[in-house]
Amino acid sequence: MWERVRFVFFIFYIILKILLLLFFEIFHFISFSQLLNCPKRLTDNSDMSLFSSRSHCLLPSSQTSEKKEKDGRNLDREQKRWIVVAVILLVRVVIFCSLSSKRRMFQGSQGASKVVAYYGLQTPPYKLDALEPYMSKRTLEMHWGEHHRCYVEGLNKHLEKSALLYGYTMDELVKATYNNGNPLPEFNNAAQVWNHDFFWESMQPGGGDMPELGVLKQIEKDFGSFTNFREKFIEAALTLFGSGWVWLVLKREERRLEVIKTSNAINPLVWDDIPIVSLDMWEHAYYLDYKNDKAKYVNVFMNHLVSWNVAMSRMARAEAFVNLGEPNIPIA
Ligand SMILES: [Fe+2]
Repeated sequence: MWERVRFVFFIFYIILKILLLLFFEIFHFISFSQLLNCPKRLTDNSDMSLFSSRSHCLLPSSQTSEKKEKDGRNLDREQKRWIVVAVILLVRVVIFCSLSSKRRMFQGSQGASKVVAYYGLQTPPYKLDALEPYMSKRTLEMHWGEHHRCYVEGLNKHLEKSALLYGYTMDELVKATYNNGNPLPEFNNAAQVWNHDFFWESMQPGGGDMPELGVLKQIEKDFGSFTNFREKFIEAALTLFGSGWVWLVLKREERRLEVIKTSNAINPLVWDDIPIVSLDMWEHAYYLDYKNDKAKYVNVFMNHLVSWNVAMSRMARAEAFVNLGEPNIPIA
């Protein structure tokens, strides 16, 4: 409401300024026309004086002084016209400057209500050297501090251009920008921000080993054994072509766990699956520590980094939406 009032005020202000400018332009034009005519008269007079100079001695002295007085008056009038023109020019400059500053002020007032930073860079839930020696501080500094930061900044730059995607949670933003398989320009950065936040939380110092309780039970139910799951997860990581991600997901419809791999920035949210664990298979995730030895990186992740504690809490949340067993509460 206040923005609309301010806009109407601004429009009136512009109209008023334009009218004033028009008035001064017309006035200026008239004054300038007169000034342009002036030299003609002066020239006429000069010509006359030149013309008469030849017979100057023939003119009576009273006529000569009268002529000088007339020339003096013409000069005074010319100076006055120049002063008027200068004043008008000055007024025009002042009005123009005032208009420009008003426009900036109006734009500034709109800018004041515009959010310029949409999403922040979340820090991993541990220190950058906490995963050593399996994932080095140098890798975290580069991977989180540069690549992840770059995705956040790229996303915010995209979002600054349009208010259409304002106010979404990251999950919603990923789904909305995936646009049913026709991704919007914001998708890659949005998905990569979400993927990395999820990935940092999928690891912990002293991670790896075996899951427990519900996760282990569900893994054994859906894969036959934890060993089978582990082999399937590693195979998916090593057969992923190019850059991408490997996931342990809970499929809503099938009500079972599954290992999937996705290319580039795509993640399981776009198919409405519930991610439980993720592994970044982009080269920047492992190259500094393992060069091209992807198998070593994946095995180290499974043995020492993956956080089954977080996986358990994610499974517990997922079970609020997906019934993994017979209903315990009779449906009314
Ligand atoms: Fe990454």
